[in-house]
Amino acid sequence: MATSMKRIGILTGGGDCPGLNAAIRGLGKAALFHHGIEVVGIRDGYQGLIENRVQTLGIDELSGILTRGGTILGTNNKCSPEKYYEGNDEEGNPIYTNAVDRCMATVEEHGIDVLFVIGGDGTFTCTKPLVEAGLHCMGIPKTIDNDIYGTDLTIGFTTATRIGTMALDRLHSTGDSHHRVMVCELMGRNSGWLTLASGLASGSDVILIPEIPFDIQTVCNFVDGRKNERSGFSIIACAEGARTIDGKQIVSKHIDNSPDPIRLGGIGQHVAHAIEKQTGIETRTTTLGHIQRGGEPAATDRVVATTFATAAFELALDGKFNKMVALSNGHMEAKNILEAAGKQRLVPNNHRFIRAARAVRTCFGD
Ligand code: F6P
Repeated sequence: MATSMKRIGILTGGGDCPGLNAAIRGLGKAALFHHGIEVVGIRDGYQGLIENRVQTLGIDELSGILTRGGTILGTNNKCSPEKYYEGNDEEGNPIYTNAVDRCMATVEEHGIDVLFVIGGDGTFTCTKPLVEAGLHCMGIPKTIDNDIYGTDLTIGFTTATRIGTMALDRLHSTGDSHHRVMVCELMGRNSGWLTLASGLASGSDVILIPEIPFDIQTVCNFVDGRKNERSGFSIIACAEGARTIDGKQIVSKHIDNSPDPIRLGGIGQHVAHAIEKQTGIETRTTTLGHIQRGGEPAATDRVVATTFATAAFELALDGKFNKMVALSNGHMEAKNILEAAGKQRLVPNNHRFIRAARAVRTCFGD
């Protein structure tokens, strides 16, 4: 053992996803069983680190959580150490402060030698000032969006794809019976992995993703052309971040104090409305929303979470700090934790999933 870790901290940051508890369990048990290293959990992401909300994680807390969705630690996608919301001033304007010192005071008080952050781009970016202040950090990638730069797979993606596929399958039978166009809006922010994989798995007729801007006229012509085929129904898997050829995306809300303030949503309705108006075919929209992030993790996510978490622990044992574990071409790798900062892994236009979908006559609206 190249390092003398006595106590580690675990924090989950950003949006939750299935498999977070599997990662907390894997990491915590590896630490407790290895050399009896102590484990503490930080509540609600960086907010808990700033506000000194820390709990001991023993075998009891780490048992029975492998299959549970969400995170037993709580999470937060609105708080960063460098921009902590303190409240409002007299004019009602928000007051933000730099709370890096407060984070380091929590670290000091609890004797945390290494902080493991299970998160995405935003969570990893937030480690920068902490690393600069002398804290050892380790990153474990998670997000249903699968868009973290440097890794081919993230915790949560497989389960969310399964949920997306199940929803599209169910829309298939009702759309077929009523000869309707069924538009399903899926999450994914600015990347189309979730919609592409779910659309491919469910045999969706149209897949709209942010990486391939769509022309609504092309989509209308395509579904109209299917009117006289079989039952005439069409299934459209539409990413929340899908954009039209003139670059338009639909934003559902701004969350000012979030490191990533834009929340997308509403494009499904927009597409459905245009199709019904232009083709006259009855069209319905379903927005999956947070259903995609909830519930128990699929087997693959439990495996990914446990292997990522234990690999991150081994790296720290070897004294290899400030790394993010990653899966690259089937191999586990260690990347710099800041490598993913400010970047996104988008779907390449010639990706094999896109080629496969096009081969079976899926329309991308381009
Ligand atoms: O990044 C995960 C994700 O679920 C995105 O797919 C989605 O755009 C966003 O988070 C939703 O965020 P919130 O939970 O704040 O509504």
